[in-house]
Amino acid sequence: MKNPRAFYQPLAIGAPAPYRELPVALERMIHFVPPHIEKMRGKVPDLINKVDVVLGNLEDAIPADAKVAARRGFIQMTKDNDFGQTGLWTRVNCLNSPWFLDDLLEIVTSVGDKLDVIMLPKVEGPWDIHYLDQLLAQLEARSGIKKPIMIHAILETAEGVKNVESIASSSPRMHGMSLGPADLAASRGMKTTRVGGGHPDYSVLADASENTARTAYQQDLWHYTVAKMVDACLSCGLKPFYGPFGDFSDSAACESQFRNAFLMGCLGAWSLHPTQIELAKRVFSPDPAEVAFAIKILDAMPDGTGAVMIDGKMQDDATWKQAKVIVDLAKLVAS
Ligand code: GLV
Ligand code: MG
Repeated sequence: MKNPRAFYQPLAIGAPAPYRELPVALERMIHFVPPHIEKMRGKVPDLINKVDVVLGNLEDAIPADAKVAARRGFIQMTKDNDFGQTGLWTRVNCLNSPWFLDDLLEIVTSVGDKLDVIMLPKVEGPWDIHYLDQLLAQLEARSGIKKPIMIHAILETAEGVKNVESIASSSPRMHGMSLGPADLAASRGMKTTRVGGGHPDYSVLADASENTARTAYQQDLWHYTVAKMVDACLSCGLKPFYGPFGDFSDSAACESQFRNAFLMGCLGAWSLHPTQIELAKRVFSPDPAEVAFAIKILDAMPDGTGAVMIDGKMQDDATWKQAKVIVDLAKLVAS
């Protein structure tokens, strides 16, 4: 399928290349703000330039009787601040909720020119994206908004995971996707109350040996979905993200979940708590030792072809491309 993002530019840096295209903007953490709480809105100026993306959350975690206040609060915080290079997103309520239509109408017509991305929850198939795409086209035209507002889908229903590839290729407005482990667990009937992360009972037992007790190795509950999402996204030039990690008291487990996602191709994760901001910044920036080695590869193969040995490790055209991914990201972080 033709890359639908080809219609919009400039979403990738450099010329078309034989490796995947990099995002222009760093989006290592999507930082969630509850806009109905005045005190939290007051902290937004401190977030600008500290986080890569500020997101005003209107959906889950906002009480039903505060939905209108959250929408109005988001509009207010958007008007009150100059976000500069910091991305501005909102997570609207889901399509079949009583709030979605007003979320879209009020936000796009009043502050749509400042908004980069709309995160759409509980996306089940390409039809959900087509609907939002058309509504956005109408509202943008009506309000004279020149820069198209992008769509970011949350992958958080069994139906959505089944249709992930057609969601990814559904519209040139698609920015990317995030895993929503809490809703997805419920939708699939998984037996966990955790928001992301592993579970001690999801493990395999190592073989028995005469001298040692059998060890249980915990497995990653989200590996399959993240892998599927990364392939669907990258095949269409979109950005994949890990979503929320709910246990704020366990930053080691959060870091490990984020790092798995980074290694598998994700570009960022959600930060729901201030402690997760620096954590995501560190994890989703390439490791300096890895960057140094990647630079050695690029230097040793100036035209990206052939085979060389570096520190006893074979390098060729494919590892050159791997190195380019890491060095390009490092340049973006440094810029
Ligand atoms: C996020 O929205 C989730 O359901 O995990
Ligand atoms: Mg959810």
